Amino acid sequence: MQFGHFEDQKKEYVISNCRTPLPWINYLGSDEFFALLSNTGGGYAFYKDAKLRRITRYRYNNLPLDQDGFHIYIKEKDVIWNPGWQPSKTELDSYECRHGLGYSIITGTKNKLSVRQELYVPKYDNILLMRVTVNNTSDQPKNVDLFSFVEFCLWDAQDDTTNFQRNYSTGEVEVEGSNIYHKTEYRERRNHYAVFFANKKIDSFDTSRDSFMGLYGSPSSPEAVENGRCNDSIAHGWQPVGAHHIHLQLQANETYDVIFGLAYVEVPEKEKFIAPGIINKAPAKKLIARYDNNKKFDAGMKKLRQFWDELLQGFEVRTQNEKVDRMVNIWNAYQCMVTFNMSRSASYYESGIGRGMGFRDSCQDLLGFVHMIPERARERILDIAATQKADGGAYHQYQPLTKKGNSDIGGGFNDDPLWLIACTDAYIRETGDWDILKEKVDFDNDPKNAAPLLEHLRRSFNYTLNNLGPHKLPLIGRADWNDCLNLNCFSRYPGESFQISGPSEGPVAESVFIAGMFVKYGKAYSEILKHLKKNKEAKEAIRAVQDMEKAVLKDGWDGRWFLRAYDAFGKKVGSRYNDEGKIFIEPQGMCIMAGIGVESGEAQKALDSVQERLETKYGIVLQNPAYTTYRLNLGEISSYPPGYKENAGIFCHNNPWIVFAETIMGHGNRAFELYKKTCPAFLEEISEIHRTEPYVYCQMVAGKDAPTFGEGKNSWLTGTAAWTFTVLTQGILGIQPDYEGLKVDPCIPDYVKEYKVNRRFRNTMYHITIRNESGAQKGVKKILVDRKQIEGKIIPVCDKKNVKVEVII
Ligand code: BGC
Ligand code: NOJ
Repeated sequence: MQFGHFEDQKKEYVISNCRTPLPWINYLGSDEFFALLSNTGGGYAFYKDAKLRRITRYRYNNLPLDQDGFHIYIKEKDVIWNPGWQPSKTELDSYECRHGLGYSIITGTKNKLSVRQELYVPKYDNILLMRVTVNNTSDQPKNVDLFSFVEFCLWDAQDDTTNFQRNYSTGEVEVEGSNIYHKTEYRERRNHYAVFFANKKIDSFDTSRDSFMGLYGSPSSPEAVENGRCNDSIAHGWQPVGAHHIHLQLQANETYDVIFGLAYVEVPEKEKFIAPGIINKAPAKKLIARYDNNKKFDAGMKKLRQFWDELLQGFEVRTQNEKVDRMVNIWNAYQCMVTFNMSRSASYYESGIGRGMGFRDSCQDLLGFVHMIPERARERILDIAATQKADGGAYHQYQPLTKKGNSDIGGGFNDDPLWLIACTDAYIRETGDWDILKEKVDFDNDPKNAAPLLEHLRRSFNYTLNNLGPHKLPLIGRADWNDCLNLNCFSRYPGESFQISGPSEGPVAESVFIAGMFVKYGKAYSEILKHLKKNKEAKEAIRAVQDMEKAVLKDGWDGRWFLRAYDAFGKKVGSRYNDEGKIFIEPQGMCIMAGIGVESGEAQKALDSVQERLETKYGIVLQNPAYTTYRLNLGEISSYPPGYKENAGIFCHNNPWIVFAETIMGHGNRAFELYKKTCPAFLEEISEIHRTEPYVYCQMVAGKDAPTFGEGKNSWLTGTAAWTFTVLTQGILGIQPDYEGLKVDPCIPDYVKEYKVNRRFRNTMYHITIRNESGAQKGVKKILVDRKQIEGKIIPVCDKKNVKVEVII
């Protein structure tokens, strides 16, 4: 069943049934100010950091679901309704929510009154804009009361939900005209406030929640709305809110509009006050003045659209398959940008107060956005590298506001350092900017301890070599990519962290997955060294890689697939000798991507085993059979009920690794078949089963052992976005940035006859047509660049603006 449809021309997803199986959200903002917005108007806003600078409240896990947000209330006669349906849930005559790139438009109609809410965050300004257009479509005059409403958060979202003894006394506001200022804690150590404004005259306002809602009131029917006006309340402590009320008398067919805006403003320490206790509003007014009429609002929207168009032009494909095209050209790329902005911090599943930026996550996300925003990718690499520890290990997470490694969780996730090589390598291939390796970057954010980025890569590489176990395979530490495979922790007590309590690091437990990574990214590292003419070091690196390859084939091969690990007792994990968890997806994907066993036959056997034991109609499960009991020696993975999350859920993140592996083996048909299984656009028609947004990937789909097989969870903030984008554009469509040029080496279904790609690469736009004359799945026969045939598959870098490329398979 569908709840909406794609409109590719406008780059929008249009939701026409407000009762989506879960809130279907969008992200507004692309610089420093962000808002999450659901299809019914729920969500919240924050500046830079969803934990430390939360601007409005959001109650996760609440009932009724998704009530807090940016709602508009309409009262006409005795009917109270919202254009987005929630929170009143008054039945609408029509409803539509258009989620576009960085904006959303929600329209509801009721009794011949149409109300449209257009929301976006403009480029480079810290403000969420919301234009509300009310249209009386009847032939009679109407009396309508319109209300806006937001509930302020007292900045620190964690403290806001726990420290009530203090917070109920700190709330402060000021009101001037149509501007409501939220200034809690501004009197003391903060130099920032929020302002919620309207560009029209208002008839009344409220800033106390009790006053607007009623102490025992409800968001579905606030007392002020019932009464048809607010109480001009000034909040002292308790719950500061912002509500505007405008009374409208609309003639037949008359239209009225008002622009609301929610902004975050910082004021220099010395200019904080204009009179005792009175805040300096000048910077807020300056900001508001940039968006206080329709012309300015529309211009901001136009700029935003241009920004997105420009970004997406970096890669455009035209195949015969509209679902593929819309994912590559619009939604998958968009999701990659959202992961750039959010990492794993704020979604409808990530509370914004939990994890900040993940080390491995941010490195992998980069694979999906580096071609769109290379300069910011560069900054990101340097930020991440600065949290690396001097021994080459890494803080597992860091906070976006401070950019400092998070010492609560610390390090010891032994795959982390190698991801730094992965993203730096991807960046250099994309940009040719070898100079980044010379940038001086702190270790552990300590300027006294800085070294060129190349030294960071060297320590990443050596970190694995310095931490080998009994089989000469890498020690796993607290966990590797699979955060839930905790082979050293032995967590026994509820509430303990599975990763960091107990003896979390040990000298025995080894990871075949990290071994695969070491081979894959070790090869890249050695290529980089070669390019820098550090030939001796490059050779040593390759020797270490070859040793690792041997170790994998000797002690990391289980007969028909790659083993997953050795536990703290030296016992096999992910082996035919295990009763459960006999085979895992991760080492199959990573080892084959590294090229291990491709020549000698192990790779094919492993892929056959994946197909036989892990593949389902909705994708490939993480392992099989699922663990049915909790196992101390394995940790969190066995804590989940069978079929969910890492315990044999379909983890969308590593499905593309198998797709990549299939392309390495030359299997274009298989690769595409597997790609489709987890691709949201292909699941739109079963939204009642899949449940999450059909325009973005979710982290996990319940596996075949789960009672809700096929049900998605944790949409948006997942490394799946970057990996699926990479596998489709590079593995299948075959457009691969390389050090010296753009390599073209597709691996496609044999029935695909032709497709076209426009790819921006190092200041040149390549217009590529690929023709599959032989009906093969792989094998480039000929490449013509501006009509001239070239040797090999790499189109050399040039200084032309446009280049035409024809590729014959
Ligand atoms: C989840 C993992 C996640 C980890 C982050 C676990 O509970 O299952 O998917 O990586 O938390 O700390
Ligand atoms: C989600 C985490 O963000 C990611 O870092 C991890 O690799 C996967 N879960 C698997 O555990």
